[in-house]
Amino acid sequence: MLNLNIARTLLFLGCVVCSNGRSLQANNKNLLSTRSLFDEKNKEHWKIQAQWTLRTKLETPLNKKVAKNVILFLGDGMSIPTLAATRVYIGRKFGHTGEELKLSFESFPYTGLAKTYCVDHNVADSACSGTAYLSGIKGNSGTLGLSGAVKRGDCKGQKDDANTVTGLMDWAQKAGKSTGIVTTTRVTHASPAAAYAHSADRKWEADADLPRQGLRCEDIASQLVGGRVGSSIDVIFGGGRKNFYSRNDKDSSGNFGYRNDGRNLIREWLLNKQSHGVAPTYIENKRELLNLDKRKHKTVLGLFASDHMPYNLEAGISDPSLSEMTQKAIEILSQNQNGYMLFVEGGRIDTAHHETKARKALDETAELAKAVEAALRMVDPENTLIVVTSDHSHTMSYSGYSKRGSDILGLANAKYNASDNLPYSTLSYANGPGYKPPTDFRRHNLMLDNMNSLNYTFPSMVPIPRETHGGEDVAVFAKGPWAHLFTGNYEQSFIPHAIAYAACIGPGLTKCNL
Ligand SMILES: *[C@@H]1O[C@H](CO)[C@@H](O)[C@H](O)[C@H]1NC(C)=O
Ligand SMILES: *[C@@H]1O[C@H](CO)[C@@H](O)[C@H](O)[C@H]1NC(C)=O
Ligand SMILES: [Zn+2]
Repeated sequence: MLNLNIARTLLFLGCVVCSNGRSLQANNKNLLSTRSLFDEKNKEHWKIQAQWTLRTKLETPLNKKVAKNVILFLGDGMSIPTLAATRVYIGRKFGHTGEELKLSFESFPYTGLAKTYCVDHNVADSACSGTAYLSGIKGNSGTLGLSGAVKRGDCKGQKDDANTVTGLMDWAQKAGKSTGIVTTTRVTHASPAAAYAHSADRKWEADADLPRQGLRCEDIASQLVGGRVGSSIDVIFGGGRKNFYSRNDKDSSGNFGYRNDGRNLIREWLLNKQSHGVAPTYIENKRELLNLDKRKHKTVLGLFASDHMPYNLEAGISDPSLSEMTQKAIEILSQNQNGYMLFVEGGRIDTAHHETKARKALDETAELAKAVEAALRMVDPENTLIVVTSDHSHTMSYSGYSKRGSDILGLANAKYNASDNLPYSTLSYANGPGYKPPTDFRRHNLMLDNMNSLNYTFPSMVPIPRETHGGEDVAVFAKGPWAHLFTGNYEQSFIPHAIAYAACIGPGLTKCNL
């Protein structure tokens, strides 16, 4: 029993630290002093761990309270192999093997699997899947906030109100909650845009992106500033400044805007908020973000980059991290007595995978895990539902058979050279720019490559410029009120219905109207 208690404490610490390097190192001493219990060769290790997991499950009561607050975290392109590989990436950074670690959200009590296909395509893109997990209906690939009746590029269909769908942001606003969006991509990119926009093409981020001929539709940036749902969002943090001002103007960093219509949407956003009697704040860098006083700034637009925000591994001193943006958003939004709905996207996992830059993809996944951890420290788990999921998978696979704790970004055990007597990497892609042409009819020898480079493109079987998404299910992790609704296997479009039930918002069944 004594042993069990020690193990409990340590395992508990082991869970909380997950992605937090400092506490992981601080605990090293504890871990060493009880080495025997952590020795995987000791059968007691596994028994105690399993008994502890069992006991935790038996002791976890169902939380059937109303979710006052909801935070939906989205790892764009965060497939299940990405999660497993990221554990090893983090573990090795801090001198552990890594396979046994848990990402912050992997210790959530309830998990499920979501099916991601779109109405017209077998493999989802971020637009149709965003519409599914934010609005609760599935649409066609490349379309945002519109039903499957609208084909990609059908501006006429976009203009017909019968095809428009709204979801979590709208329902939360109608219930008097504050709403926020945080992303590392352009705030007009597909995932965040699915929260507020209706667009027959996800590419119509600014007016300059619209076709020159035929019907004109409202671009996504314009909908964020002027749309019913977009204009009511209280906190917007991310990149994509160029879509908000004219191609004839420069921002403070000397970047030209991208708009043809001469509008300055940042100014329009400020004026619009002022006309509604709120004092809005516009910010552009990390210092301004960290200095925000939540008591004075209740409505904030932060556009921290001209395009997407940089990868964490390439970020400069003026670029805020996903955790910093998430923390500030929670600080500001949690002042509303009616609660809040916050959408947080780790958007660059996906872009890294498309480039087959696995190192960056795993690092961005670690950043999302840190942001979830930062949120967990700030909220009351009794009244805050946290859901962590992904929009779609990718084609990266995690191959055997290396020794435990091997470099996840390196070669598989040399004992297992392929049939052509050349080594292969643990991580590889079914397609993408990492394709390496053969030399003298022999497969490329990976030992000639610098796989430690940030920009190394991992081997891909088929050469295409952008690696594709994958079609298998994505994981859903949930904690807080009604988190148990997220168990099982379901359509991705079920997610907002379950959130709405827990939070007593939206037109469907809720805990309050049942
Ligand atoms: C695997 O392939 C590399 C590159 O050709 C070679 O140097 C190495 O000796 C091979 N390993 C085995 C066990 O054959
Ligand atoms: C990686 O690529 C980016 C551009 O995609 C470049 O800015 C950066 O300098 C490269 N880093 C290294 C270490 O090569
Ligand atoms: Zn993508």
